[in-house]
Amino acid sequence: ALLGIDIGTSGCKALLLSVEGNVLATSTATYGLSQPYVGWTEQDPVLWIEGACKAVAKVMDGCGDVELICIGLSGQMHGLTPLDADRKVLRPAILWNDQRNAAEVAEITQKAGGLEALIALTGNRMLVGYTGGKIVWMRNREPELFARMRHMLNPKDYLRMVLTGELATEVSDASGTGLFDVKNRIWASGLIETLGIDPRLLPACYESDEISGRVSIEGAALFGLPAGVPVVGGGGDSVIQTIGSGVIGPGELQTTIGTAGILAAALDAPAPSLDGRIQMFCNVAPSKWHAMGVSLNAGGAMGWFRSILAEAGHGKDLTFDEICAAAEKSPPGAKGALFLPYLNGERCPHPDPTARGAFVGLTTRHDLADVARSVMEGVVHAFHDMHALLKLMGIEGTLIKASGGGAKSALWRQIQADMFECDVVTTEGAAEGAAFGAALVAGVGIGVWEDATQAAGTLKVLTRQAPSAASRDVYRKAHSIYRNLYPALSESFS
Ligand code: XUL
Repeated sequence: ALLGIDIGTSGCKALLLSVEGNVLATSTATYGLSQPYVGWTEQDPVLWIEGACKAVAKVMDGCGDVELICIGLSGQMHGLTPLDADRKVLRPAILWNDQRNAAEVAEITQKAGGLEALIALTGNRMLVGYTGGKIVWMRNREPELFARMRHMLNPKDYLRMVLTGELATEVSDASGTGLFDVKNRIWASGLIETLGIDPRLLPACYESDEISGRVSIEGAALFGLPAGVPVVGGGGDSVIQTIGSGVIGPGELQTTIGTAGILAAALDAPAPSLDGRIQMFCNVAPSKWHAMGVSLNAGGAMGWFRSILAEAGHGKDLTFDEICAAAEKSPPGAKGALFLPYLNGERCPHPDPTARGAFVGLTTRHDLADVARSVMEGVVHAFHDMHALLKLMGIEGTLIKASGGGAKSALWRQIQADMFECDVVTTEGAAEGAAFGAALVAGVGIGVWEDATQAAGTLKVLTRQAPSAASRDVYRKAHSIYRNLYPALSESFS
């Protein structure tokens, strides 16, 4: 069998997949994150390892004597895990959604010779979330710790080190450092030198389906796995999720509603967006690239709304299903109520850590159902806004493959079909998230499937929803109002 392990933001998931492509077992161990200041998000890497130990033990125990043939790793992207010469963690990891380093992003962009020059070198602008800005932040703000730093790893690659002893990454996570030449699939050594970053800090980089090492004796003892099992490169969660939801061909769009919202497509050639608002990464398939917009507040916005309701109800928690059921009572367009989901700043289409959320257009006619629906619609408006940027690059979706926790809601999928005016499907395994994609990539790496296209092609379609003509005009109008809100309100955010 194949094992996928995903180091998520809220927990670690392990998934065991048979070589016939059936999910045999899954297990998730949750953990928290710390927010020492507004806009800061950190996690102690020990939580990832403890979580992975628990989740892996559970799936392996549940499956008796399956023969494990390969492991794939996935994880939240961009996080900086700084290690000293003894490979000890120097400070809590700074996560993808941390917003502290706007000044360092400006410094990097300027040193690279401006935005255009930076995009020419890496295919991307340096976003606040990316690892590169976090490294420079440590150099500027924590110089004593920085002086002791000898290695830097993204979250799943820290797990790889503990599991195999190797200091390595792969092309998709490397893309998300902002220090990688995405077109040529190698570290952007010129930029790294210009920034004065010691290239020895950066790990060796593999293709996602290449074998990067094997479970070591120590790793085997810690995780209860057989020593010697090969571990492929794997991939950053939002990139590997694309193969996990069957998105590999032209016209297919992946939407993922997790904490963040992801809109992505697989491309045959890299095509950086003009001002770098769309992330252009290496795909986990060696001959493909990955165009992606990430909105920072999707399922997270719904989680916030749920927690507000729980407070108001003095602990009478509504479940997500109950909130979705309430929203269903409100008509498309939520009677004119609009929600701007930028509760934590935003990344795409507005790279603005100071962006804020808003409810707009409320009247006394609006009830809980309308407000709940406006939250769900606001998240899809954000996706649709990112789609406009993809279209400018010549990438137009004609079929959405939905994944993530939010894809469990038929209403949320229908809103996507109606607003994008195309069919929305879900495929087998996609709901399992990045751990499923990681297991598929492990399968490609060990030869179970010929390549990513073949692996993605085996996934059965589970649900399909068509757009409803009846709501088309309502959504078109609502979306044009939505798009005007950020420019109109941005001055009030700060
Ligand atoms: C991708 C990104 C997020 C995290 C979430 O650029 O920042 O998708 O990987 O886990």
